[in-house]
Amino acid sequence: MIATKASDPCWFRNVLGQYPTGVCAVTATEPDGGRAGFVVGSFTSVSLDPPLIAFFPDKSSTSWPRIQQVGRFCVNVLSAEQEFVCRQFAAKGGDKFAGITFRESGSGSPIIDGAVAWIDCELGDVHEAGDHYAVFGKVLDLGMADGETPLVFLQGGYGRFSALPTV
Ligand SMILES: Cc1cc2nc3c(=O)[nH]c(=O)nc-3n(C[C@H](O)[C@H](O)[C@H](O)COP(=O)(O)O)c2cc1C
Repeated sequence: MIATKASDPCWFRNVLGQYPTGVCAVTATEPDGGRAGFVVGSFTSVSLDPPLIAFFPDKSSTSWPRIQQVGRFCVNVLSAEQEFVCRQFAAKGGDKFAGITFRESGSGSPIIDGAVAWIDCELGDVHEAGDHYAVFGKVLDLGMADGETPLVFLQGGYGRFSALPTV
């Protein structure tokens, strides 16, 4: 076997951290009215027909099993003004929705005020993927806000998109 740095988690994170992602809060409302949510950078569009999205929850997440149990969720693409929402939803425990205003999607999941875009989903396939799951969402409805720019995560820090001048 050739020795590589692929099994070094620190190096893996540093190298993969060179790839910029958006930041999404995945939210759900439980039957007793409780609200669950957590942050993912691993969100991606998958298929147009049928409309599918995907993201990758860590197996250690305590929020993902609650959302999975509900079977419906909303992916909120956070804006560059919502770093505080990101930090709150990325923390373990506590009230993730404290001080955060939202309305309910058609399927009852929280759409966070000020999000750049929201994608309301029914849970599709879930596959094991190493120490994560690969989760597919069947898109039920979606929408976006006018004039908001997304929060960007790159090289371990937060920023915003800045377009290059056109030539
Ligand atoms: C920018 C950013 C991106 C993240 N991306 C993911 C992700 O794709 N999958 C994941 O499981 N956790 C991700 N996390 C970590 C979770 O949001 C968070 O640690 C965890 O879900 C909170 O704990 P809980 O699920 O037990 O509530 C990310 C955190 C940050 C700050």
